[in-house]
Amino acid sequence: MAIQVVILAAGQGKRMLSDLPKVLHLLGGKPILQRVLETALSVTTDRKPIVIIGHQGDVIQDRFAHHPVQFIEQKTQQGTGHAVLMALPSISQDDQVLILSGDVPLLTIETLQRLVNGTKTNQVGMITAVLDNATGYGRIIRNEQQHVISIVEEKDATETQRQIKEINTGIYLVPASALQKWLPTLNNKNAQGEYYLTDIIACAAQDKMSVVAVQPSFNEEVSGVNDRVQLAALERAHQRRIAEHLMRQGVMLLDPSRFDVRGTLQVGRDVVIDVNVIIEGDVSMGNRCVIGPNCLLRNVNLADGVEVHANSVIDGADVEAGCIIGPFARIRPGTVLAEKVHIGNFVEVKNSIVREASKINHLSYIGDSDIGKRVNVGAGTITCNYDGANKHRTQIGDDVHIGSGTQLVAPVSIGHGATLGAGSTLTKNAPADQLTVTHRLDQRTISSWQRPKKGEKLESI
Ligand code: UD1
Ligand code: CA
Repeated sequence: MAIQVVILAAGQGKRMLSDLPKVLHLLGGKPILQRVLETALSVTTDRKPIVIIGHQGDVIQDRFAHHPVQFIEQKTQQGTGHAVLMALPSISQDDQVLILSGDVPLLTIETLQRLVNGTKTNQVGMITAVLDNATGYGRIIRNEQQHVISIVEEKDATETQRQIKEINTGIYLVPASALQKWLPTLNNKNAQGEYYLTDIIACAAQDKMSVVAVQPSFNEEVSGVNDRVQLAALERAHQRRIAEHLMRQGVMLLDPSRFDVRGTLQVGRDVVIDVNVIIEGDVSMGNRCVIGPNCLLRNVNLADGVEVHANSVIDGADVEAGCIIGPFARIRPGTVLAEKVHIGNFVEVKNSIVREASKINHLSYIGDSDIGKRVNVGAGTITCNYDGANKHRTQIGDDVHIGSGTQLVAPVSIGHGATLGAGSTLTKNAPADQLTVTHRLDQRTISSWQRPKKGEKLESI
């Protein structure tokens, strides 16, 4: 018997007050629907998951065009029971159907696995949770033997039923054959005028099919995102779990509540991360890396002992051991910094290779360049890599010394050991081991000049 996943995502998500479909809102940098999908796929790959779409379905379909999913449209949103009914013709009679909500993003693989393992093929499985504040959720009704016999939606519940703290999470595992039997019999005679999927539990009780209820490890796992307040709360819960996991791996987080991972982070030993650091995409850090406050690291590999100082942005770069970057540095995609390179404040490096022990310490733009070993790039050096139409490369040999305020008009190359005088504008190659200086204006001193005084009227020219 195979498991067919069905994810409900046709609702409008009204309470988000957003033009973006609810399930495309991001949590930890990933659309919440993608999280649900990945969790589902980790417990079963038997069948292509079905996603029920309706409201802004085309936008969701476009976003997930490259995922292994099958979309089924629910043209009018007549309730969760009606949504699953739309999928029935595409489900094999012999399957078990794992029904998930597209708006419950933090469900863990472990809990889902427990549901799958704990539910026999002739049973109905579901995940329930006990919440201090059950407001808004369907309540679980149990009989005297403590068997689950039905679910009552809050809007339909009596005052006594509303006191029940065990809630329906909207996650079920049901034999397809049972759904075939029950779904067409549902009615919409309830407070919301909808066909409630929750009514299948009463059907199961009536048919004497046993209902297994499994609980999550922590409650945020089964919390739904209905508005932005809930989304923000789940984002924090998610980040706290990542932070705790990293700290258990030996990372020193100066404040785990001011740290965000929107992707993956691999770490070595004794990594120290200061506050307000954001990790995006896939980032790795070797042993003893130190990241200062307010840094953004996206798709970066840092080798051992790299120091990134405050307010630096590093994107798409490979940084080798012992480099020191920042404060206020910007490293852009395609950059490789070899061992012990120093990049200082207000320096931008793009698509460039900087070899061992070279230093670019102040106020520079280095784009499309190959820089040799032990090069010193003076303050305010600019590579003029763009002629308005094309980008050109700058080649700089080993042991070059570039004076401050220099412009390197690419394509241009500087031989190893060369020195460039401060303020040069290089348009031709500079030979190795010599001093190259471009023409400088004579320096003049005007002895009769007087500094204007405050309040003095300018004479008309
Ligand atoms: C539902 C459950 C409730 C449970 C809660 C858990 C029902 C009737 N109620 O309530 O018992 O406590 O989830 O989060 O099932 N959807 C469709 N088509 C529709 C209606 C909804 O695809 O016609 C989708 C929504 O996009 C959403 C999911 O189904 O992803 C749940 O719908 P929602 O309206 O959020 O149900 P709740 O009121 O939260
Ligand atoms: Ca919901």
